[in-house]
Amino acid sequence: MTAIKEVVNWFGKKEALLLQVILAVQDADPQNHLSEEAVNEISREMNISRSRVYSTASFYSEISLKPRGIHIIRICTNAPCENANKASILAAIKQELGIKIGQTTADGLFSLESVNCLGACYMSPAIKIDDAVYGDLTPEAAVAIIRDLRKEYQDEQNA
Ligand code: FES
Repeated sequence: MTAIKEVVNWFGKKEALLLQVILAVQDADPQNHLSEEAVNEISREMNISRSRVYSTASFYSEISLKPRGIHIIRICTNAPCENANKASILAAIKQELGIKIGQTTADGLFSLESVNCLGACYMSPAIKIDDAVYGDLTPEAAVAIIRDLRKEYQDEQNA
């Protein structure tokens, strides 16, 4: 049984749970995205149209139809973070990674995305990396987090 078939079966093939299926399939993908093959398989296994799968996937900014990095960095661009010097955080991250919003580093380790609000306005400026939210950031702290993740990855590769 394929991994996608297992996910679909686990959710009981209910169309109402399509979003949860898509998120679970994306989470299991090493490139953090929903591939065309995955769309086709979800469509087939759930017996719903490909266009329905595509439209659901396209609606949510958390879901990507193109390959992304191992770590997804989301920077909040809403007013409270904007007013709390988000620009300097973004500039530091862009310089550290050498990419712009919407891009992935050449080593496939990081993707940089913008988001409207992380629900962490009380600790603006905030970013989210994968499932963790970091707030009250300085440019130095943001860069340190990224360097720690890179080191963690390199240590894993060398282990
Ligand atoms: S405005 Fe940035 S987390 Fe809400």
